[in-house]
Amino acid sequence: MPVKILMVCLGNICRSPLAEGILASKLPKDKFKVDSAGTGSWHVGRQPDERSIITAKKNNIDISSQKGRQFAIRDFDTFDYIYVMDNSNYNDVVFLAKTPEHRNKVQLILNELFPGENVDVPDPYYGLANGFDKVYKMLDQACDVIAHKLIEKHA
Ligand code: 4NP
Repeated sequence: MPVKILMVCLGNICRSPLAEGILASKLPKDKFKVDSAGTGSWHVGRQPDERSIITAKKNNIDISSQKGRQFAIRDFDTFDYIYVMDNSNYNDVVFLAKTPEHRNKVQLILNELFPGENVDVPDPYYGLANGFDKVYKMLDQACDVIAHKLIEKHA
């Protein structure tokens, strides 16, 4: 059974699709499965934001076939690790957790780089285009740490 990792943001069109693509690119496909979801439902069924698709493509990662979906309570059982992009996502997801085990699966992704600091990945949706490059860089660094830990533990 592969180890399953879920990336979560608000819309599932900007940050978490990038995080999914980046982490998947760093892990062996036979042992790990990476997915993403949004806490909101506005973009269900849609492709990631074009700016995220372009930013990923510049880094040789194709996220264009991803489809937006909403986080669901069953995801707590399906996934082994749930990484959220910001404190608001953290509160929204943890609110739905019914057990301490489920709650403990939820981590702020940048705590992998800055332990205990609870730093947000900023939402680039309404910002400047270079916001996507900044987000990419943060997620790439965090996913390096995550991939090393996961491979050490499970591969
Ligand atoms: P994301 O960005 O959470 O990184 O996918 C957003 C995209 C869309 C919206 C909010 C955040 N929205 O409100 O439509």
